[in-house]
Amino acid sequence: MPSERIDMPAQRIDMGGYTLIENASLANRNTLRVDARATLLAEIHNAARLPHLLDFPAVRNGHLLVLGEGSNVLFTGDFGGTVLAMATRGVQVESDGDSARIAVAAGERWDDFVRWTLGQGYAGLENLILIPGTVGAAPIQNIGAYGCEVAEFIESVEAWDIRERRVATLDRATCAFAYRDSLFKREPGRYVVTAVRFVLPRSRPLRTDYAGIDEELGRMGVDRPAPFHVAEAVVRLRTRKLPDPAVIGNAGSFFKNPIVEASLSGTLKREHPDLPVWPQPDGRCKLSAAWLIESCGFKGRREGDAGISNRHALVLVNHGHATGPQLWVLAQQVIAGVHDKFGIALEPEPVVIGAPPRA
Ligand code: FAD
Ligand code: EPU
Repeated sequence: MPSERIDMPAQRIDMGGYTLIENASLANRNTLRVDARATLLAEIHNAARLPHLLDFPAVRNGHLLVLGEGSNVLFTGDFGGTVLAMATRGVQVESDGDSARIAVAAGERWDDFVRWTLGQGYAGLENLILIPGTVGAAPIQNIGAYGCEVAEFIESVEAWDIRERRVATLDRATCAFAYRDSLFKREPGRYVVTAVRFVLPRSRPLRTDYAGIDEELGRMGVDRPAPFHVAEAVVRLRTRKLPDPAVIGNAGSFFKNPIVEASLSGTLKREHPDLPVWPQPDGRCKLSAAWLIESCGFKGRREGDAGISNRHALVLVNHGHATGPQLWVLAQQVIAGVHDKFGIALEPEPVVIGAPPRA
């Protein structure tokens, strides 16, 4: 007889500052909409209570996963441990007129925060509008879009250091930010980010020369753009290009754009003149993973409910009931196809949770 999972109503236990749910469904807590469960889910409303929670032997000695909105994770199975879902709220501002230092709780929604800064007349985050997820996750992979990365605006990150059992304040240099990378990705499981402190100016040169922003501003009839015009242009571009997770499950770009030596990039560019190449400050070159994937014929490919978006070749989509392993197998096919044709090893951008099954 085929077995079917029956979802019992989850029992919530209020622990004062956090809530516990046993055998919790994560299906609505990841934007790829993969059906997975956690042995224990702890929804954190007060970061000061983290030490209390982490002192329970079952929590301390088991596996831990911090989760924001789940917009950059792929579950390849159930999570046998405790998921810490960050739901803390709060924004504190110290302003000196020309700029502001703004401390934001990890559970705030990134896009809400960006819109709030623009509404308050601060500049800097306009190119990073409409990125899903929480503020606490923004430093993890150093979110970036349209020629900007969040690292530029981060003064420090406050975290609970699980290893040292104390609050840590990590300045920008210590965070070791790089393209889709940071200390937090290199030391997974050590830090729970509880707040991020930003410094934002009232005005700064706008970045509009990237990926169609200038052209979009032209279509909007704007010739002297303010930050909110740039934000509107980015919203229009993103809405056209990327599938909406509310409509079809996805985690944004599923692969990072590969950064290769200039010599390899030069060879590929001679063979494929339309390959997009972005020179990097260190002399290497970033290549368009979407272009590589599309030229292998994967765009729009569908294997059951796992697919590659027909709008953007870098986006893996869940057409309905794809499982984590099915999505992961398709991702492996893409990696193998691009490697066979171009000799380049694509790396997944989302954090793959659970033992990845073999392709
Ligand atoms: P989650 O997916 O919940 O977690 C991601 C990782 O961060 C996990 O390893 C998790 O353990 C860790 N983490 C989360 N919160 C904390 C915390 N408080 N402390 C410690 N670790 C934590 N990303 C970009 O950079 N640029 C884009 O343009 C972009 N566009 C996207 C578009 C779409 C449609 C989607 C679905 C995703 C996109 N992303 C983009 C990816 C994603 O939005 C970001 O990576 C975002 O920061 C993830 O936030 P989250 O709260 O959902 O994190
Ligand atoms: N392209 C294709 N086929 C496609 C889509 C794009 O060939 O189906 C080519 C086009 O030539 C296009 C180029 O790829 O000009 C770049 O495309 P796009 O501007 O959409 O950017 P991207 O490199 O694919 C990156 C980030 C996005 C970010 C955008 C905008 C990575 C892995 N992805 O995508 O971030 O929003 O730039 O700056 O760096 C994410 O991380 O989840 C994400 C969505």
